Amino acid sequence: MSSPVPTAHINAKIGDFAQTVLMPGDPLRSKFIADTFLERAVLVNNVRGVQGYTGYYKGKRVSVMASGMGQPSIGIYSHELFNFFGVDKIIRVGSCGGYNKNVHVRDIILAQGACSNSNFTRQFDLPGTFCPIADFEMLTHAVQACVEKGLKYHVGNLLSSDIFYEEESSFPKWAKMGVLGVEMETATLYTTAARAGKKALTICTVSDSLLYPEEDTTAEERQNSFTDMMEIALEIA
Ligand code: HPA
Repeated sequence: MSSPVPTAHINAKIGDFAQTVLMPGDPLRSKFIADTFLERAVLVNNVRGVQGYTGYYKGKRVSVMASGMGQPSIGIYSHELFNFFGVDKIIRVGSCGGYNKNVHVRDIILAQGACSNSNFTRQFDLPGTFCPIADFEMLTHAVQACVEKGLKYHVGNLLSSDIFYEEESSFPKWAKMGVLGVEMETATLYTTAARAGKKALTICTVSDSLLYPEEDTTAEERQNSFTDMMEIALEIA
């Protein structure tokens, strides 16, 4: 079979990506991470403006590339990185909405698992329900990093939703099941990692709350919590 690399979505060569890729949703964030945290960063992909960079953090080779928004998008990029570009670990660094009374804006959520209303796992024709979970070692490292930095963090379930604008909010039903927050990517990232025999973790900062809509943040506060999350991700990379 001919090599699938470069792919329709990633115009890079095997070896251009480090073994660990940090994955924000927003391509501009990817450039910001490369400019702010990485040394000697080089652009390795720019198809559709989905900027991917590989550089060094404290001497470790690390890549960063955006996922875009939603499960179909992260499903494409994570599949190709894991299966065609030799990537072993993906750390999603994103934002989520808070669903739980103990969860406040600017807190960090480490996604132990991810529920979903997506049909992504149906393709595997399993005789039951697949449970997308984080890599345990990455999760415990992230917990240690949060403790060392004195950050307020929560570990638990997220909802990865395919619907941002819901006709009728499903928030109360998921909240009743102890789900901590909502975003749109993690269940597919964890499923893709499982299928490829690879590792993944999502670290989210809470950007808004369904319970505390008054907890607005300034741009500076959002930037500070983003920097905290990035430092945890880079520590465990
Ligand atoms: N819904 C879905 N994704 C999100 C949200 C939300 O409220 N906040 C941040 N990402």
